[in-house]
Amino acid sequence: MAGVTDKPFRDICRQLGAAMTTSEMVSSEAGLRDSQKTKERLIFSEDDNLRSVQIVGSDPEKLADAARFNVENGAHIIDINMGCPAKKVCSVAAGSALMRDEKLVEKILHRVVNAVDVPVTLKTRTGWDLENKNGVSVATIAENAGISAIAVHGRTRACMYTGEAEYETIAKIKSQISIPVIVNGDITSAEKAKEILTFTNADAVMIGRGAQGNPWIFREINAYLETGLFIEAATKAERQNVLTDHIKKLYQFYGEYRGVRIARKHINWYCNMLEGYISFRKKMNQIDNADDQLAVVYDFFHQSKMEGEKAA
Ligand SMILES: Cc1cc2nc3c(=O)[nH]c(=O)nc-3n(C[C@H](O)[C@H](O)[C@H](O)COP(=O)(O)O)c2cc1C
Repeated sequence: MAGVTDKPFRDICRQLGAAMTTSEMVSSEAGLRDSQKTKERLIFSEDDNLRSVQIVGSDPEKLADAARFNVENGAHIIDINMGCPAKKVCSVAAGSALMRDEKLVEKILHRVVNAVDVPVTLKTRTGWDLENKNGVSVATIAENAGISAIAVHGRTRACMYTGEAEYETIAKIKSQISIPVIVNGDITSAEKAKEILTFTNADAVMIGRGAQGNPWIFREINAYLETGLFIEAATKAERQNVLTDHIKKLYQFYGEYRGVRIARKHINWYCNMLEGYISFRKKMNQIDNADDQLAVVYDFFHQSKMEGEKAA
């Protein structure tokens, strides 16, 4: 997720059981490679995790070139974004807008697959809009082009993020192709992950917003799929420790000025189940240095109760 799944957050998710994470999307425009934003999103060879980089664009040659560039810089997997509905992406016919033009999809996928020696995966939606749910057709094109796995968000481009994700189309895609299918959209608990895996017969689940402030979701899903039993939810003390580690990683990665500002949204996600969160949020959002931000988080955890737990 652009603006969310940076390296610090991906590291936390991996530590807590995510089998694989993907970078925030990076543009296929070579001219943007020197921008601060793109540099931060690039994956470096010293990162120990399985390194999947998502590229976005609409020009087959530029996407192939971006794939080569990212592999040279340490990517183990290239993921192509055909799932993002954002205006700034769709107005230049990239992201999910590409689903409208299957010939172009085919060309892009062939060019990128042939450009690199690593697996190329595709992130897509169920279709362009409710009248044009061409997810099955796009998935078939992907399989024939040599795509190694496909992740499908159970909404059309026109649905943006509204309504509920539907999984019938993903089940249909799974039944028609033989490459691994990853189901995505509105999966926010271990129970739902299992239910949707069973319903679609998909090979894996992809979690987006359900991990925000809740990276424990990965170990909860793993345990439930392996044993059929629910594990204890993270305690308040563990939440505090992981959040503190996450914030420090953000300071280290972005420097104090930006780190403090980027940390705010994560702190809000981690803390919104604690009593007194609304007034805490107001205070926390005004803090502009690392020491005060860490101190206010520490105090809040020590003073507030979480459902079913006593304050420390
Ligand atoms: C803030 C935000 C940024 C996102 N950025 C990307 C992106 O860069 N690439 C991508 O493939 N999907 C992106 N998505 C879509 C998610 O990957 C995912 O498909 C969608 O949120 C549905 O899954 P969820 O309900 O588990 O969040 C983004 C979603 C959000 C909310």
